[in-house]
Amino acid sequence: MGSGHVWDIGCDHGLLGLSFSQESATSITLVDPSPAVIEKLKIKINSNTSHITKPNISIMLSKGQDLKLSNRNNTIFIAGMGGEEIGQIVTALLPQLDQTSRIVISPHRKGLELRKLLASLELSIAHEEVVTEDGQFYPILVLHPGSGPKVHPYGQKIWEGETGEAYRQQQLLHFQVHRDEASCAYVSYLRALKSL
Ligand SMILES: C[S@@+](CC[C@H](N)C(=O)[O-])C[C@H]1O[C@@H](n2cnc3c(N)ncnc32)[C@H](O)[C@@H]1O
Repeated sequence: MGSGHVWDIGCDHGLLGLSFSQESATSITLVDPSPAVIEKLKIKINSNTSHITKPNISIMLSKGQDLKLSNRNNTIFIAGMGGEEIGQIVTALLPQLDQTSRIVISPHRKGLELRKLLASLELSIAHEEVVTEDGQFYPILVLHPGSGPKVHPYGQKIWEGETGEAYRQQQLLHFQVHRDEASCAYVSYLRALKSL
């Protein structure tokens, strides 16, 4: 079974979106506002006939905020951008989506600010986890339009397991030197997790 329409927003190299290219029932749109990125992708897709099925792939020069979607059965990936940019894109796309769609995000910075925004939107959280590669941590949130469990301001399941604990230690190191109210509240929450 396919994954409906996959949108890889801020696709850069396009690896995420293209990983769905063998699913025949899935159409893929790679989106990026950088003309250089789009040119490189065109060359990559047109020169690679061995494992990329072309008819279901399209490439679009656009900011995520400016997209027009059909409302059903979209899987929207927004990875590798700051929380502010991701928040703007989710806010712009959400009114166009129904509950058959899902939004998968992975912010690289400003995760706390993004969580605050997401919690205020008509969104529910289906899954959250953190993955690690080369010493970097990548939080991933899977969201659905509509009602249901809200995004937690600091995360819940994301702290589970070995990688969750390593991420908690890394976040503590990073945030405990900050003195602003939001950072202090976050650090208190992270410290309290240890005693659970
Ligand atoms: C660091 S790359 C992330 C690539 C890939 N998504 C990943 O996670 O490996 C960020 C990409 O986002 C694009 N970008 C920046 N602002 C954007 C926006 N508002 N809408 C869509 N893409 C954007 C950039 O041009 C760049 O190619």
